[in-house]
Amino acid sequence: MAFTIAIDGPAAAGKGTISQAVARHFGFGHLDTGLLYRAVGRQMLDGVEPVAAARGLMAEDLEAEGLRSPDVAQAASKVAAIPEVRAALVDFQRAYARRAGGAVLDGRDIGTVICPEAEAKLFVTASPEVRARRRYEELHAQGVETAYEIVLAETRERDHRDATRADAPLRPAEDAVVLDTSELDIDAAVVRAIAAVDAARGSGEG
Ligand code: CDP
Ligand code: CDP
Repeated sequence: MAFTIAIDGPAAAGKGTISQAVARHFGFGHLDTGLLYRAVGRQMLDGVEPVAAARGLMAEDLEAEGLRSPDVAQAASKVAAIPEVRAALVDFQRAYARRAGGAVLDGRDIGTVICPEAEAKLFVTASPEVRARRRYEELHAQGVETAYEIVLAETRERDHRDATRADAPLRPAEDAVVLDTSELDIDAAVVRAIAAVDAARGSGEG
């Protein structure tokens, strides 16, 4: 049976970590849709025209080196503002969402545009300072030399670009459960996310 869980939110809110844990809990598949935009952004940095890159995207492109780097993140949010790039990625995401056995998709517009009919929707967020701190610590652990202030400025820049673009801007769906993780550790956030999905499953059955 298909069951779609949509998890949206700004950068480093905890979407990916929560999505993986929720998918494991329910035995569902998980698609990190940010990787699609990162793969296109990465190709743009290599000189490929972004709409052509999006139309020709292949599964192995999602495993390219360096997709998690800050410059690719910025490039991703630039190509993500191009309507033709977004349009080229819709069918793949929708097909994944309806796969047999259930799916968790995380991104920016899953609950609003890609899967407005998702059975469960979460909007995971946290303050920009908390999110920048998490991303800074991640980068630091990977040996990337940068300053917290730079990561904070990049986080704000990407938030602004993602929330103000005309096509599929970042915003919570009206029926999304908002989960602010500013003061929640990962375990606590996962418990709340699973409870929200259980509540949606219960209401769907009843
Ligand atoms: O996918 P997204 O960019 O929203 O965030 P993530 O990659 O899941 O999480 C970013 C970082 O924040 C990771 O290092 C997580 O371990 C950490 N995190 C946290 O410290 N507390 C949370 N409640 C959620 C995530
Ligand atoms: O991990 P993090 O939250 O930092 O970023 P991501 O989820 O990998 O997304 C990278 C960029 O792709 C975002 O800043 C958005 O501009 C774009 N994106 C989008 O527009 N729509 C999605 N469904 C997912 C990502």
